[in-house]
Amino acid sequence: MRKPIIAGNWKMHKTLGEAESFFDSVKGKLPDAGRADTVICAPAPFLASLAECAGDEMPAVGAQTMHEEEKGAFTGEVSPVMLADLGVKYVIIGHSERREYYNESDESVNRKVKSAFAHGLVPIICVGESLEERESNKTAEKISGQVRAALEGVGAEQAAGAVIAYEPIWAIGTGKTATSDMANEACAEIRNTLAELYGQETAEQIRIQYGGSVKPENITELLAQPDIDGALVGGASLEPESFIALAEAAG
Ligand code: G3H
Repeated sequence: MRKPIIAGNWKMHKTLGEAESFFDSVKGKLPDAGRADTVICAPAPFLASLAECAGDEMPAVGAQTMHEEEKGAFTGEVSPVMLADLGVKYVIIGHSERREYYNESDESVNRKVKSAFAHGLVPIICVGESLEERESNKTAEKISGQVRAALEGVGAEQAAGAVIAYEPIWAIGTGKTATSDMANEACAEIRNTLAELYGQETAEQIRIQYGGSVKPENITELLAQPDIDGALVGGASLEPESFIALAEAAG
């Protein structure tokens, strides 16, 4: 039985004061960690303060990206050592916005995934097809290829702890959600790929989220699907009330 996981991805939104006030508003109102995991992936400048606010309680704190090296001359980057030191637990890797605007390749995603594991961070690995790929029936090939590339050289024990987020690019921030059947079909394809890589038992342990215009109105139907174990949520994670509603649906 996989524990649901709802992760908010705030992208480049909020000030520190707004972020802290969000944490104050949701504290004590989320399902306990035994029923569902809840995570907020916040902008880097807020992580220290939010990790302190969260402590061991929910929501856990995640980063939106990281560099794969521990330290060095990489102006503007944040290392896994820095994140782990702050008490950050999760890190989004390979979000389609990172792949599109910052040229993140499958190879760099793979290096970051390995580095996250090496530093005790849970990677939320994003995969997903463009509209053009979906319309030319390339969805399965694209997402299966991205999963294989991201986990290249990662052993089954570590992979079991990963979270994969299926985010069709055409559904992100557009208000167009994949139907729950479409989303489940892609998540099942991802689980099949994981079974080919690691065997069925490990594949059954790995949590797969759907992301793309998830909101309180559609979360229940998505979570009812057999291969969808949670959601990676952008816009609807910004307000405490809707984040609480999403978490309640999971827990
Ligand atoms: O990481 C989150 C996704 O990009 C989804 O964003 O919920 O605003 O569509 P959205």
